[in-house]
Amino acid sequence: MNKPNILFIGAGRMAEAIFSGLKQSTTIGTITVSNQSDQSRLSHLKKTYNVETALWQEVIADHDVIILAMPPSAHPAVLSELTGRVRNQFIITVAAGIGPSVLEESLPGLPTAWIMPNTAADIGESMSLFACGRHVKPEHRDVLQTILDSIGESAELTEAQIHDLTAVTGSAPAFVYQMAETLEQTAKTYGLSSEVARKLVVQMIFGSASMLKDGREASELRDQVTTPGGATAAGLEVLEKGNYRELLYEAVLAVNKKAAEQAK
Ligand SMILES: NC(=O)c1ccc[n+]([C@@H]2O[C@H](COP(=O)([O-])OP(=O)(O)OC[C@H]3O[C@@H](n4cnc5c(N)ncnc54)[C@H](OP(=O)(O)O)[C@@H]3O)[C@@H](O)[C@H]2O)c1
Repeated sequence: MNKPNILFIGAGRMAEAIFSGLKQSTTIGTITVSNQSDQSRLSHLKKTYNVETALWQEVIADHDVIILAMPPSAHPAVLSELTGRVRNQFIITVAAGIGPSVLEESLPGLPTAWIMPNTAADIGESMSLFACGRHVKPEHRDVLQTILDSIGESAELTEAQIHDLTAVTGSAPAFVYQMAETLEQTAKTYGLSSEVARKLVVQMIFGSASMLKDGREASELRDQVTTPGGATAAGLEVLEKGNYRELLYEAVLAVNKKAAEQAK
């Protein structure tokens, strides 16, 4: 696909995160953004990012890739409207729970893909999961990878795995933020200002994540800071008594149970 034109249906946070990154790419053609009704949002995006804005129904034929960046609840109506209007475009959704099998049901024979980013897409640091439909060819994969790279890192999984693993990439950031909030509050009880408490905690998490990203094992890094019988070990013992590992595991299961209920 030479310089594909990309149409976004949905102009919210996720669309903005993707096209703001994509604007840096030299392998993409025109980017057009549309939404349901919020004209002031479209004007703002046009002014800020120099993207085209339009009614998607009027410009769909000029685009090679269509990114559905709207809530899952909006999909059935838009997919049924797309049915009569698409030719051989590559259809990608970022909506929770809408895998390629769902897209293929409405759009048989078309190349489709599902991207599940997380909120760090806003700063180009998403860990995005993705799955491709049955009609995706290498040329589609190339443009998909460009889109994924514009918001961070990515991993291809099966559709079923994405349903289960979104808990780890999409929801677990909330677990980390909860830990950050609690440690910040604890630091303040020792007389620190909010600003200093925040700096301490943020850099601690950033440094720890960077060590992990450097390729070192979590268990090895943990043992490095834990002298047997020492002060850190006393802290870990409290976490063990509170079943910290089991709690994290159960939290992931709870996310998946709820997501499955919501998908019904
Ligand atoms: N934000 C995240 O970090 C994140 C992460 C992973 C997955 N997701 C998935 O991505 C979806 C979108 O997220 P978001 O944060 O971008 O949502 P958002 O900021 O609420 O934006 C939703 C957009 O969809 C548009 N829209 C709604 N119904 C439409 C329709 N029938 N036709 C055309 N456009 C329509 C809205 O347009 P109007 O304003 O004109 O109604 C708005 O531009 C989420 O529902 C979620 O499933 C989001």
